[in-house]
Amino acid sequence: MKIYIPMDSAAKALGADDVADAVKAGLAERGIEAQIIRNGTRGMIWLEPLVEIDSGEGRIAYGPVNAQDVPALLDGKMDSLGRVEDIPFFARQTRLTFQRCGVIDPLDLAAYEAHGGLAGLRRAAAMTGPRIVEETTTSGLRGRGGAGFPTGIKWKTVCEAEADQKYIVCNADEGDSGTFADRMIMEGDPFSLIEGMAIAGLGVGATKGYVYLRSEYPDAIRVMNAAVEIARAQGVLGADIAGSGRAFDMEIRVGAGAYVCGEETSLLNSLEGKRGVVRAKPPLPALEGFLGKPTVVNNVISLATVPVIFEKGAQHYADFGLGRSRGTVTLQIAGNVARGGLFETAFGISLGEVVEDIAGGTRSGRPVKAVQVGGPLGAYMPREKFDTPMGYEEFDQNGGLIGHAGLVIFDDSADMLQMARFAMVFCAVESCGKCTPCRIGATRGVETIDRIARGDTAATGLLTDLCETMKEGSLCALGGFTPFPVMSALTHFPDDFATRKEAAE
Ligand code: NAI
Ligand code: SF4
Repeated sequence: MKIYIPMDSAAKALGADDVADAVKAGLAERGIEAQIIRNGTRGMIWLEPLVEIDSGEGRIAYGPVNAQDVPALLDGKMDSLGRVEDIPFFARQTRLTFQRCGVIDPLDLAAYEAHGGLAGLRRAAAMTGPRIVEETTTSGLRGRGGAGFPTGIKWKTVCEAEADQKYIVCNADEGDSGTFADRMIMEGDPFSLIEGMAIAGLGVGATKGYVYLRSEYPDAIRVMNAAVEIARAQGVLGADIAGSGRAFDMEIRVGAGAYVCGEETSLLNSLEGKRGVVRAKPPLPALEGFLGKPTVVNNVISLATVPVIFEKGAQHYADFGLGRSRGTVTLQIAGNVARGGLFETAFGISLGEVVEDIAGGTRSGRPVKAVQVGGPLGAYMPREKFDTPMGYEEFDQNGGLIGHAGLVIFDDSADMLQMARFAMVFCAVESCGKCTPCRIGATRGVETIDRIARGDTAATGLLTDLCETMKEGSLCALGGFTPFPVMSALTHFPDDFATRKEAAE
């Protein structure tokens, strides 16, 4: 018998370690022989800690399980959720990037390989760099950090740059509110990121990689460091990777907690030991990045998706999706929601289907008022926009952005004026201070929204002008995208701004 208990930090926060201890003690008491495997999470957070028991007839799920439930669990007296693959939230997914997350022990390289891991790297090892880049371009993969820039084009720029040294830098500074896909894959399937970085290295001719990992993710830091050591010891990293005759090695670097260090040039400064201030582009990091050398900077999910593309072929990946958004999107569902978690599906599903059907609406049971898609810089999408399909262009045409694909759901008690104010406060606090529209504009934005709250009607026009200036005049996305939440709140929920006015009058 095998018993799977997640070691993902969300499951641990909900008591998974206590459950593991209780299971161990309970097995000893009963004299039952069983193997306890600490897996990653399946991503159904409302069911965590989700325990799976495999007695030879598939993995049967139980959850949420707390330590007090363990005697009933081991004595067969706890109601099961059935086979984990049959739970509707899970059954409806297309798991490509997350195919192994929650399935295996994250640090078991043999299990990784048994579930399709390293097949992509072996295939890539037999290809030339330009051929690897071409395959990536054919897959249609676009940057999952937020901007959606075609990964193959980025790699081509680095591949064709002349330099004695090139780098792969993974942006694991996942700072968007409501997002956790990067953390989940690093904790649940770290070798997929390592393999993706190694393939990227072979593709562009880089021999060294760094993961810039936020300090707020201690479990991910521990798992990634352990995985790198195992990969090195097993020849997945090193002087001759996968028999390619080419070298690639990598290390984990820990950030110090600034949102703006998720912006790629600020991240590179921080990685070089400098203050995390945004650099002007051009030059692009692809040409002058880490230590001035050509550098691929990709998000965790972009890189962790590369192995499955090489394992199953670019066309297989490209066959999923909608329009120019190919493959799968790893939606992170959070906020006031009945069923929150990680939902991987082909691009094209509508926002409304995700929110109402898959996530089951709000946890409070009240009507959904708005969904903020794309982190704190994303627009608030009202119910009227629920037909919008998940696709980069489709969201853009509807005044939104997919960003890193985080969805934060609000019920009808949310005060959208306060949400708009929070966006400006967030920008003011996190601004690196390099450019005026962001550094000063955000503070003026807070003051202007406070004026609206006090009933100053003229201030609405001023807020619109200010947002336009921030959008057009800011150097990076922090100042440039803050107008998205502010203006979407103002445009779609005018009553929340007017009500204040009337109350003040
Ligand atoms: P961007 O549009 O300036 O650049 C996109 C990427 O393409 C960059 O890596 C850039 O260097 C690269 N690029 C552009 N032209 C290129 C070329 N010809 N050759 C090679 N590479 C090229 O966008 P940026 O500022 O990097 O990202 C903005 C996005 O970040 C926003 O959409 C936002 O959603 C997202 N974001 C994500 C966060 C997270 O926690 N994941 C946090 C904050 C923002
Ligand atoms: Fe810095 Fe804000 Fe300007 Fe970005 S927009 S460079 S965070 S001051």
